[in-house]
Amino acid sequence: MTTQKNTDLPLQGERYISREFFAREWENVWAKTWLIMGRADEIPEAGDFFVEDIGPESILIVRQADTGIRAFYNVCQHRGNRLAVVPDGSMDTFTCSYHGWKWGLDGACLEAQDAEDFTPNPCGHAQLEELRCDVFAGFVWINMDPECASLKTFLGPIWDEWAAYPMEQMTRVQAISVRMPCNWKTVQDNFHETYHVATAHPLGLNSVEDDYRLTAITLYEGGHALGVTQGSIPARRKFGDNPSLGEQIRMELQTWDLNPDDFQGREYETRIALQARKRQLGPERGFSHYNKMSDAQLTDTFHYTVFPNFATSINSDGMLYLRALPHPTDPELCVFDCWFYAAGAENAYTRLLTENGDASRLAGPAPREWRNYGEGTLGVILDGDAVVMADQQRALHSRGYKGSRLAHQERRVQQYHDMIDRYMEGYRPR
Ligand code: FES
Ligand SMILES: [Fe+2]
Repeated sequence: MTTQKNTDLPLQGERYISREFFAREWENVWAKTWLIMGRADEIPEAGDFFVEDIGPESILIVRQADTGIRAFYNVCQHRGNRLAVVPDGSMDTFTCSYHGWKWGLDGACLEAQDAEDFTPNPCGHAQLEELRCDVFAGFVWINMDPECASLKTFLGPIWDEWAAYPMEQMTRVQAISVRMPCNWKTVQDNFHETYHVATAHPLGLNSVEDDYRLTAITLYEGGHALGVTQGSIPARRKFGDNPSLGEQIRMELQTWDLNPDDFQGREYETRIALQARKRQLGPERGFSHYNKMSDAQLTDTFHYTVFPNFATSINSDGMLYLRALPHPTDPELCVFDCWFYAAGAENAYTRLLTENGDASRLAGPAPREWRNYGEGTLGVILDGDAVVMADQQRALHSRGYKGSRLAHQERRVQQYHDMIDRYMEGYRPR
């Protein structure tokens, strides 16, 4: 395997298969970057907690008595037993199931069996190992590197750009986590380009303009990126001179009191018409955040990739939360989180996302639902993505594969892999 920096070199299959590469990624990327977790508002009261496993680590996130949030490695400091063994809940103290040590919400050891038999007494001395933790856009973020730069520095322009969206008010309406037979980067690569949209899930072209000449790509320092694709419009490249309106656009028009039939012969004007309509009616319908948005933000998909493992397609009223988590030991397995968050009002977007259009799902966060690859559906678009992820992973083993040939429109993929290499060489945002 090459140890050379990957810039401008084809991406080789080893990056997705090699255990040695996987181990170096863990030490230099996962343990050095800010990682998005669950929602702060899902643990509102002191003692509320949730646990998230990332590779070999398990992270315990706890609401404090002073209303702050702290994150600890989910491991008892007596002899290394797993401390919290349920994914979420509420506790006054965390009691280890092995020898019964009790830990406070702030990570301090409060009680130990036969405490006088220890030198020194663990009560008052032992402390759960804490890691950096911050809250942004309603989400908890953690970083295992005690020397890391702030989350704001890490995110760069994203910090301000996300302010236009009502992320704090969003609720999780779907949370499917799939155990995937592929490397975590096979998932992330897919979300770094729109080149595959026309072929892997052509139905998307009914309401998204995928032409790369009309997609605005921005590469950010730090390995993040933004791709903006026009939405609420049939793709010219699919429909040419004979456009028609698919179900999704028709529903959107109706939601905003526009008659789809009025657009016969001017189907490519739906996007502009919806922008004007949402601008006009949005605030009085409770979408006051539209006032902070550009016209493009009202209809288009702002697709952010946040290094190293998160992608989100943000729409005017919700966001698709796409996250890959590495397997503890196997580079060819990962968890793929396909979650949806919606702003707290029923609208076309949330109806589309919630399978039966049941707005009651907006009342509370949807529980996390675990699936194995191939079980159930993620919706037609993401099903198409999942299939190519699994197929690609198998094919990357071939001695007949000589490495990638990336188009300019796939430059986010290149930047992403370059940044992984740079982290391995010691890059850190400052
Ligand atoms: S390992 Fe936790 S109390 Fe012994
Ligand atoms: Fe896709």
